[in-house]
Amino acid sequence: MKGKTALITGGSSGIGKATCIAFGREGANVIVVSRTESSGKATEAELRDLGVEAKWLQADVSNPEDIKKVMEEAKSLYGTIDYAFNNAASSAKSGMLTEIKEEEWESAISGILTSTFLCMKYELIIMEEQGFGAIVNNASVDGLRGFPMDPVYSAAKHGVIGLTKSTALQYAKKGIRINAICPSWTFTPRIERLLQRSPGKDKEWLEHQPIGRLGKPEEIAEAVLWLCSDKASFVLGTALSIDGGYTAM
Ligand SMILES: NC(=O)c1ccc[n+]([C@@H]2O[C@H](COP(=O)([O-])OP(=O)(O)OC[C@H]3O[C@@H](n4cnc5c(N)ncnc54)[C@H](O)[C@@H]3O)[C@@H](O)[C@H]2O)c1
Repeated sequence: MKGKTALITGGSSGIGKATCIAFGREGANVIVVSRTESSGKATEAELRDLGVEAKWLQADVSNPEDIKKVMEEAKSLYGTIDYAFNNAASSAKSGMLTEIKEEEWESAISGILTSTFLCMKYELIIMEEQGFGAIVNNASVDGLRGFPMDPVYSAAKHGVIGLTKSTALQYAKKGIRINAICPSWTFTPRIERLLQRSPGKDKEWLEHQPIGRLGKPEEIAEAVLWLCSDKASFVLGTALSIDGGYTAM
């Protein structure tokens, strides 16, 4: 991937950060997109220490102006966006549907689904001009299955998969491959925060993980790398489960 450019949203933490490191190790220039300057700049510095050509760009992925600006900046910095991993997403309120406030629904759809649409829209404008590119959207096993207490998150992630499949068909003959990944519980700062709020919740999750452990961010990153690489040249419109066997049950 030497000389290629990879753009990763939510690149300063968890799965996004592991993916920045994975692309960097393959020789790609890495654009880390995130909201917070301190963690964004720290990730950029960490990548540069590993010898990676890296640049942090600030954006809230649910803000169209931010996304448009970031994509233009990325293109002017490195000339192309070869790979994009649309990974950043907000969480969503859990609970019975009747308890979900309208503004909680709107906020989750904006932070999970609209943000993916926005990133794809401005990435695809650039990739179509180039005539090549690979996009991976981070969905979840929640995009494949129903979860009784998470109708909002699950609906938004099902939407990410629908967006992935339909746009993959639109761009199939244009040299652009679009796929999604569907991780199950993976040990990241997001999951650490969840465990602090609900200690012992991991025991419940492990009952649904045939492999008997949570995923590692690096294991998810490897799949993103493969889907973007030429080794996956015949793969498009897929929603790849990376879940320790969860969806096989
Ligand atoms: N960790 C899991 O178990 C798991 C499982 C399935 C899917 N996912 C998905 O993986 C992705 C990353 O999750 P993670 O566990 O690595 O989380 P994380 O909290 O460790 O990292 C998420 C990153 O995204 C950034 N982010 C969030 N909203 C943003 C916004 N509006 N604009 C810009 N940046 C924003 C955060 O600041 C953070 O840097 C999410 O889409 C999540 O839904 C995670």
